Order: sequence, then C-alpha cells, then structure tokens
Amino acid sequence: MSRILSAVQPTNNLHIGNYLGAIKQWVELQESNETIFFIVDLHALTVYQKPELLRQNILDVARMYLALGLNPNKSIIFVQSHVKEHAELAWILGTIVKMGELERMTQFKDKIESLSEITGQIKNLEMLIKDETRIYLAPVTAQEILDYIKKRGHSNVGLFTYPVLMAADILLYDTERVPVGEDQKQHVELTRDIAERFNKLYGKVVFTVPEPMISQSGARVMGLDDPAKKMSKSAASAYNYISLLDDVATVKKKIKKAVTDSGAEVLGGASRPALNNLLTIYSLFSDKSVTALEKEFAGKGYVDFKNGLADALNAFLEAFQEKFHAIKESEARDILADGAARASTRSALKMAQIKEAIGLI
Ligand code: ADP
Ligand code: TRP
Repeated sequence: MSRILSAVQPTNNLHIGNYLGAIKQWVELQESNETIFFIVDLHALTVYQKPELLRQNILDVARMYLALGLNPNKSIIFVQSHVKEHAELAWILGTIVKMGELERMTQFKDKIESLSEITGQIKNLEMLIKDETRIYLAPVTAQEILDYIKKRGHSNVGLFTYPVLMAADILLYDTERVPVGEDQKQHVELTRDIAERFNKLYGKVVFTVPEPMISQSGARVMGLDDPAKKMSKSAASAYNYISLLDDVATVKKKIKKAVTDSGAEVLGGASRPALNNLLTIYSLFSDKSVTALEKEFAGKGYVDFKNGLADALNAFLEAFQEKFHAIKESEARDILADGAARASTRSALKMAQIKEAIGLI
C-alpha cells in the first residue's frame, strides 16, 4: 500500500501510448493503494490552447479516465487548477530550484528545439495560407498558429518552470510513488532533489521524497511514422499516433501507413525498431506475447500482420468508445468537483505545514 499520484495534460485526445504507458497502470494501482489522478490543465497552458478546445479536452480526458476504468470511489480524480495550492507551492519551490537544473531538463530542451523549428515553419505557414491549403487534421488553422506565434512569441517562462509545478503537484500530497513513462523520469528525479533540499534547508521533514515508477513493457510506445521518437499527441502528423477516439477506418489507415523495417519478415529485436514497436503494441492489446505473434505471422508478411494489429486495436477501441460516449459531461463535472474538494482538504493541510516551516505568517 503506497500513496500514488500521476497526471496527464489535456492537450488533444489521449493516444494508445498514454494508455499503455500510464493509465493502464493507474487502473491496476487503484485497487490496493491510495491513489490520486488528475488533469494538469495549468501545465497544458505552456503551449497555446484554443480556449473552447481546452475546455472540451479537459472534460474529454476526465471522461476517458472514467471509461478506461479509473473509479472515483477508489481514486481522487480532479483538475489541477481547481486546487489552488498547486500554483501556490510552485512559487515557493521555485525559490529553491536552480536555473541550471531546469536548463538541463531534456523535455525543456526538446520543446525549445521544436519551437525554434517553428521559425522555419513560419515561412511554410505563410505559403499555406496564401495557397489556402488546410493543414491535415490540425485542430487549428495555419492562420491561427501564425497569429499566435506573432502575438505571443515562441517561448515562455512557463515552459521553463514546468518541472517546478510538477514537483508541487507531487509534493503536496506526500506522494511515495509516481507512475510515469520513461520521458517523465527526469522530472520526478528533480522533484526528489527539491524535496531533499527543502527538508535540509528548513531542518524538518516536510516533504516525502517520491520514487518514479516506470512500467516495463509499453513504457515507451514509439511513433508510427517514426519509431525513433515516442508517440506523442503533440506530433506534427496525426499518422504518428492512434488516438483513443480514432474510428475503425482511421485506425486501419494509420496502421497501413505505419513505417516498417526493411525485409518482409514479422520479427522484432533491437535492430528492427519499427516492427519491434508494432509487435509490442499488438502484444499489449491482444495478450499474446511478442514471440507468439512472431510465430503466428511467420512467413505471412506485413499485410496480414498489420490487419491483425488493426483488428486488435479496433476491438479495444470500440469497447472503450462505447463506454466513453455513455458518460455524460455533467457526470464528469460532478466527479471532478467532488475530487477537487477531497484534494483541497489535503493540500490545505500540507500548505499550512509548509508555511509554518518557512516562516510565513
Ligand atoms: P504527450 O507527449 O502525448 O503529450 P504527455 O507528455 O502528456 O504525452 O504524457 C502523459 C503520460 O503518458 C505520461 O505519464 C507519459 O510518460 C505517458 N506517455 C506519453 N507518451 C507516451 C508514449 N509514447 N509511450 C508511453 N507512455 C507515454
Ligand atoms: N509532466 C507530465 C507529463 O507531461 C504530467 C504531469 C504533471 C505529472 N504533473 C504531474 C505526472 C505529476 C505525474 C505527476 O506527462
């Protein structure tokens, strides 16, 4: 029995990487632990979100949590911005975090890099607008992206201090274990450093030092269009990921287009990153081992394999989507309000301890 906490950002719909790398574990963990799972809307603001889309995404992610099996009777489920202590503690922690520590965060470096690519993309965007081309499947138009970049600039301070808010999320609830994908491990390690530094500085054990918890298989689902990079909802192309709300035809199309390795054999292994990824996904959605799948498709080639994979995915997604659509927005809002009330009771107590320790009156 441990105190366990995790969260995802309400940016776009969740994809199968978020499910396999995160939420699937959460559902199992809530059975025999004290669990808190929330939606980090304040973190999402570090990248421009269209207000009406953000509102929709927050509620959709909540409904996805519930449809995937998170149970409000077993877990506290809420929205980050509904519990004011998250932002409040982030400020306090920011005063003991070093600039250099944040500069070393790989997620920050990656984001900055992709933002500087935008400079090059501005020219492309201007061309797209002139040609009146629609960006495929993008939730915003090229004109909107361009206006935003011009208005707000590429980078922002929130992107830099993002891990400090995440540390506040974790430390507010005396969290012992944090289940996340491999990509978030560095942020949890920074959180540990911050907790230890704070306790030492003020001579009191105010914060519990959390452990990251990385699930082994499915920890890093790679992009369908590029198996060298993780599947991500912020990927440039929708062919990178399978969204939990993709329909049957879309899944078939995306799997058909997924890149494969050279050769024609259905075999995984480190030297075959594309097939390795597809086999892992297939295995996790079919409960067959990778070895069993390699045997099943021996001598059959990629087409049969991809059809089988798309069917396995669609079987899961259809059952999920039925549950998702049955959950009303009003129901989700009630559950979130109740979760925020329960979380606030704890965070207010913790905040009082913190203020006492540092000398705020
Ligand atoms: P995204 O990159 O799609 O925006 P987030 O950064 O919001 O995803 O991650 C939400 C959760 O899902 C985190 O715990 C993260 O580690 C996990 N996750 C994200 N992408 C993947 C992936 N491709 N494979 C496994 N887990 C992932
Ligand atoms: N940064 C995490 C991600 O992008 C989301 C997150 C915010 C989180 N606060 C957290 C995860 C606290 C675990 C615990 O995936």
